[in-house]
Amino acid sequence: MPPVVEIRRVSKYAGQEVILQGWLYNLRESGKLLFPLFRDGTGIIQGVVVKKAVPPEVFEAVRSLTQESSVRVTGKVRADQRAPGGFELDVVNVQVEQRISPEAPYPITPKDHGVEFLMDHRHLWLRSTRQRAILGVRHEIIKAVRDFFDDRGFTLVDTPIFTPAACEGTTTLFEVSYFEDKAYLTQSGQLYNEAAVMAVGKTYCFGPTFRAEKSKTRRHLTEFWMVEPEVAFAHLEDIMALGEELIAFVVARVLEKRRPELQVLERKIDKLEKIQLPFPRMSYEEAVKILQSKGSEIQWGGDFGGTDETLLSESFEKPLIVHRYPSQVKAFYMAPDPTRPEVALCVDVLAPEGYGEIIGGGERMTDLALLEQRIQEEKLPREAFEWYLDLRRYGSVPHSGFGMGIERVVAWICGLEHVRETIPFPRMLYRLKP
Ligand code: 4AD
Ligand code: MG
Repeated sequence: MPPVVEIRRVSKYAGQEVILQGWLYNLRESGKLLFPLFRDGTGIIQGVVVKKAVPPEVFEAVRSLTQESSVRVTGKVRADQRAPGGFELDVVNVQVEQRISPEAPYPITPKDHGVEFLMDHRHLWLRSTRQRAILGVRHEIIKAVRDFFDDRGFTLVDTPIFTPAACEGTTTLFEVSYFEDKAYLTQSGQLYNEAAVMAVGKTYCFGPTFRAEKSKTRRHLTEFWMVEPEVAFAHLEDIMALGEELIAFVVARVLEKRRPELQVLERKIDKLEKIQLPFPRMSYEEAVKILQSKGSEIQWGGDFGGTDETLLSESFEKPLIVHRYPSQVKAFYMAPDPTRPEVALCVDVLAPEGYGEIIGGGERMTDLALLEQRIQEEKLPREAFEWYLDLRRYGSVPHSGFGMGIERVVAWICGLEHVRETIPFPRMLYRLKP
């Protein structure tokens, strides 16, 4: 029996007979020749079936294959400079796993389909070259993020998904019934990170995060993945530097490993090559002045909308670091700047090319009395935060961290219009299926 080989590895088998397992991507017929394109998830290869070289039933079996029919193909690998991957397969035999009936064909054809149709068929759409390229880049980004933290002595500590209280404001909470009680889906692992960091010094959590965002924008999902590092004894400056390094590292890794995918996506590589340290920095105050000079209505004290973020970042080719927003627009746990208590020691990183905020974080409030007061002001249930207050009672230290939304990073690095294509099965205001 010939070896079963992945298409990405056929170059090692030139001149040999192999078995490929996959799906028919496309079929071209030219007289006594068939040119089936096979894909197996690792690549695409063109097969050649010569009528007089194979038994009639093999020729007929290939000829009657329909798009996305599943097969095991036996053939000889042949180097061919004209072939896209440099190799072709001279087909000897085919075992059809499932032939899709022409009466009920594969719904996604090479012609153009509308976005809603494709989203409804997301379970099939994932097989397209473009979607597989995005999946590949997403995988690489996640792996790069993990390597970045693992190689720097961070311990991964998983945080819960069922939580008793809000972290990022009560307006975006998903409530679920929890036996006789109720619980909320996590909006961020941060509060638990703050406990974990006192145990391990440097930690990160990485998991799904939920926000009942009523906004129907190209940047918002209701379920997204966030990586959140937290560092003991770190101040705002330290965490800004960490965020900047992380972003540069991830972009460099994708450029190193995923050029073919970026090419499929027609991503402008030179834009990504510019993502080198250091990144530009400015305070919220400076950002407001720039926005006003560009015609924005923003006043000191207001939060930036998506348009403001785009307006701000459009003058830069690198991610823009904006720090020290007014405390009133930020979460209850943000430490006030000791020199100007009305602003928080916080940071947002805005991606270039209008992709918006990709990182949000800062230094945490350590003052017990002030934290108790903020919890009360925000009308948060004190009892659910008692354990969090303990962290300020027992060996409290300055500490800082941030969260980076994976989908926004994938959208930016891949150059996608909308975050809906960055996650295999997006969850949005009007979409819970498939
Ligand atoms: O700025 P956010 O809300 O920060 C936090 O949750 C902090 N507790 C994190 C921390 O300090 N540990 O969210 C962080 C990032 C945003 O910058 C954005 O990239 C992403 O999460 N994000 C979303 N991504 C997709 N859809 C949404 N609805 C998102 N909301 C936030
Ligand atoms: Mg934010």
